[in-house]
Order: sequence, then C-alpha cells, then structure tokens
Amino acid sequence: SLMKNCKVFNDSVHGHMEFHPLLVKIIDTPQFQRLRYIKQLGGAYFVYPGASHNRFEHSLGVGYLAGELAQALKTKHDNEGENLIDEKDILSVQIAGLCHDLGHGPFSHMFESVCPKKKHEQISIEMFDYLVEENGLKPLMKLYGLCDPDLIFIKEMIHSEDKHGNWPHEGRGEDKSFLYEIVANKTNGVDVDKFDYFARDCHHLGMQNNFDYRRFLKFARVCEAEDGKKHICIRDKEVYNMYDFFHTRYCLHRRAYQHRVNKAIEIMIRDALSKVKDIKIEGFEKTLLESIDDMAAYTKLTDCLLQVILFSTDDNLKEAKEIIERIFSRDLYVFLGETLVVESKVCKNIFVKLISQKKIEWKKKLAEPLRLKPEDFETVNVTINYGMKERNPIETMYFYTKSDPQKAVKLPKEQVSHLLPDTFSETFIRVYCKKSLQPDEKKRLENWCKENIFEPLQTRLSFCNCTLNCITVTSCVPQTSHYII
Ligand SMILES: *[C@@H]1O[C@H](CO)[C@@H](O)[C@H](O)[C@H]1NC(C)=O
Ligand SMILES: *[C@@H]1O[C@H](CO)[C@@H](O)[C@H](O)[C@H]1NC(C)=O
Ligand SMILES: *[C@@H]1O[C@H](CO)[C@@H](O)[C@H](O)[C@H]1NC(C)=O
Repeated sequence: SLMKNCKVFNDSVHGHMEFHPLLVKIIDTPQFQRLRYIKQLGGAYFVYPGASHNRFEHSLGVGYLAGELAQALKTKHDNEGENLIDEKDILSVQIAGLCHDLGHGPFSHMFESVCPKKKHEQISIEMFDYLVEENGLKPLMKLYGLCDPDLIFIKEMIHSEDKHGNWPHEGRGEDKSFLYEIVANKTNGVDVDKFDYFARDCHHLGMQNNFDYRRFLKFARVCEAEDGKKHICIRDKEVYNMYDFFHTRYCLHRRAYQHRVNKAIEIMIRDALSKVKDIKIEGFEKTLLESIDDMAAYTKLTDCLLQVILFSTDDNLKEAKEIIERIFSRDLYVFLGETLVVESKVCKNIFVKLISQKKIEWKKKLAEPLRLKPEDFETVNVTINYGMKERNPIETMYFYTKSDPQKAVKLPKEQVSHLLPDTFSETFIRVYCKKSLQPDEKKRLENWCKENIFEPLQTRLSFCNCTLNCITVTSCVPQTSHYII
C-alpha cells in the first residue's frame, strides 16, 4: 500500500518511466519544479529552435537511469547469489539523480560565470537540504527506510569535496564504492547524467547519438579491481561504444554547446546579468550575488530573469536591458574569427604568453581601423576535450572479459584500435566584437583579424609544433613573436 502513489511519466527520450512515491513527493516541490524554467542548453535555444528542453525533464531522466543502472547491477548479482545492493541504495541513487542539478542558475552553466563564487554542484546540495527541510520530507523518507546516513550518501553522490584518506565517504562504506560511480563518476565522467543529456540533447538538436546506454546497462557488472575497490565494469568488447560515447560528446560541443553564435549570445546574457548582479530587482528579495547564499531567494532565479529585466522600467537596469534588446532583435556580438591551438602544454604556454604580452597592443591595432575601443573586444578560449584534460578517459575505465568476469581490467588504446584519436583536448582562441557593426564594417574587421592575427598565429604555432623537440619555450617566443605585430 506504500507504493500506491507511484507515477508514470511518458518521456520523449526514455518512454514510460515509473517513479516511487517518495520520488514523486520530491518532484512535486517548488524547488524541483523550478527546473522547468531553466533551459538545459542556455543560449543554444536562440540558435537551434528545437533546443527548448529544460533541466526538469533532464533531471527526471537522470533519476530514472540511475535507478535502471542500480537495478540492473542488483539483478545481475542477485542471480549470482551475491547481495550487493539493497532497496535503500536504489532509492538513494534515484534521489541523487533527480536532485543533482537543483543548483543550476538561469541559463544553466552561463550563470556560473556571473556568480563564480559557488559551483552549481555545491548549490545543489544546499538546495537539496532546503527542499527536504521546507517540505518536511524527513518523516516520509524515514517511512521508506532512509535516515541521516542515507541523506549524507545522497549528497555525496551529487558532489563531494576531495578528502584525503583511503575512503573519503561517510554515507556508504568501501564495499559499496561502485555506487558512487552511477550519478557523477569522478574518475572519468562516464555516468548516467551524460547518458541522459547526450540522448536528450541530440534528440532536441536533431543530431545523431551513436551511444546506446541500454547496451551499457546490459553489459555492466561489479568487480574488484587492483586498487582493492569495487567498480562498475563493462564487457571488453563494448570499449568501441565508449569511444563513440566520447565522440558524441565532442560533436555536441562542436556543433551546439560551443557554437559560435550560441557563445556570442551567452556572452551577451552574461554581460547583461553581470551589470545587474549587485542590484535589488523589483520582486526579488535579494541581489543575484546574495541569492547564491540564500536558497529561498535562489528558488526565484530562473531564465525568467531575462524577461523581468526586459520589461522593467527601472533605470538601474537600463544597460542590461539594452543588451537583452539586442539579443531579441538579433543584433548580436560579432564573431571575428578563431584559431585552433593543439592542447600541447608547451604551445599553450607560448600562446598565453604572447597574448598577455601583446594584449593591449593588438586590441589597439584591431580597433584602429574602425575607431573601436579595446573594451569592445572579447577574446574567448574554447577548450573541447574528452573530459579529463589531455588524458584519455577510456583508459581509466574498467572492463571484464567473458572468460574471467570477476576480474576488472583496463584496456590501453593500442590494444583497442589504431584508428582512434591521439590527442584528447583542443583549444580555440576566438575573438568577438561587442559593438553593432554594419555588414561592410564586419567584413573589414574579419579580414583584418584573419591577416593580422589568425594566420600569423597559425604559422607561428605550426613552426612551434614541428620544432618542439629542438628548442625551448623561452627561445621560441622571441624568435616568433614578430609575426604578431
Ligand atoms: C508516449 O509518448 C510517445 C512519444 O513520445 C508516444 O508515441 C506514445 O504514444 C506515448 N504513449 C502513450 C501511452 O501515450
Ligand atoms: C585563455 O586560457 C589561458 C590559460 O588557460 C588563460 O591564461 C587566459 O586568461 C585565457 N583567456 C581568456 C580570454 O579567457
Ligand atoms: C565510472 O568509472 C569507473 C572507473 O573508476 C568505470 O569502470 C565505470 O565504467 C564508469 N562508469 C559507470 C557508469 O560506472
């Protein structure tokens, strides 16, 4: 009878998803419903008309998949007579999945650049505590067997500080270490959060998703590895799918998350919100900056902020309002060009050095032909990688073989295929102009940048790449910097 309030949601990606009554109670709170008003992909909806999905449906999806993975592991090991996972574990993992994004601000990741003091994961934990408290959920949780250690466990799965010592967690012991890999896998980012958003984002962007998480669920099991801990492992032959998984991630970044116009719009939203972050806007109790420490105030912060500013008659919001008006009339910051830097540490350092040496100078040079001010330009670094800086995340994953399913092994890339990437990270340096430009002005500026910045930089970088072995960084900079100015 405790289960009679189960609910079924028909999701556009996963189909019918059934939720436990406790999960339904959590979903039906103002703190959770708030996620309906936060776009999953921030400014991408201004570029891709289908990308209108919100954090709400993504969170349901992650809660659902977290339960599916935990249940798949439980069934597999129960059948082998091994009691690894209990119902409380499953419920906790589902709650962590549901609540992992509670702390996202307006336009998702964009807000972190406006108020960088706290990351969204940290706010998710504070918001989760607030949600449980405000809605008096503790007695209900107790009814279903969840007590204080389980609440700690849930929060640790959402976000945990790096603690020293052999076992950093309190909520569950080392014998259940693998449970921590389901919602937010700290080792390599292969987790159900990505399973959901790859599928969901591809669906809404109209892109192909080459990764089928259902195969992962079928081939996952728990084995003890050489570090003495239990990890989620998949069959060795599934390793190709994992390369597809990260390739899909790369495509999503390339085509959507880091799209040049999407980025321009996100910079505009960031600039607009930055101009009002210290102002108390009518209808809000706190300023944006104060709200990240006050969950009651934070609950009110959603994408609606853009409309609030747009329709406001408050003079203090005028500058922000002007920027937002430009977004809606498509008078956007202008993309002037970009250049690719291979994420080789040496070359990156040279680039950073060059830019910092010449920053003021080249901004002036760029501005001169059109009498623009240096502040009218913005240089943006866009780094796309496989989620572990220069490293290959798949080499940190554990696999098992058919002949020895109890043993967790790693698979070096050389043993998998010779047709896989050699580099796992790349950086683009982009330049945007914030002023409105006429088409002919834009063309002049673009050409100027191409000839004076991007081409010389490429020449210098390829020179640098092929002579890396014979010269040092310090000798590389003075020899080549004359290309720039
Ligand atoms: C569930 O949604 C899908 C589309 O997302 C639809 O085709 C299907 O008919 C729905 N099922 C029911 C029973 O409404
Ligand atoms: C680009 O990245 C480098 C190093 O990662 C950093 O020093 C520099 O400030 C960044 N530039 C911008 C405009 O973000
Ligand atoms: C999480 O990381 C481990 C390695 O620590 C890996 O074996 C596992 O496949 C990863 N992903 C999931 C969802 O378990």
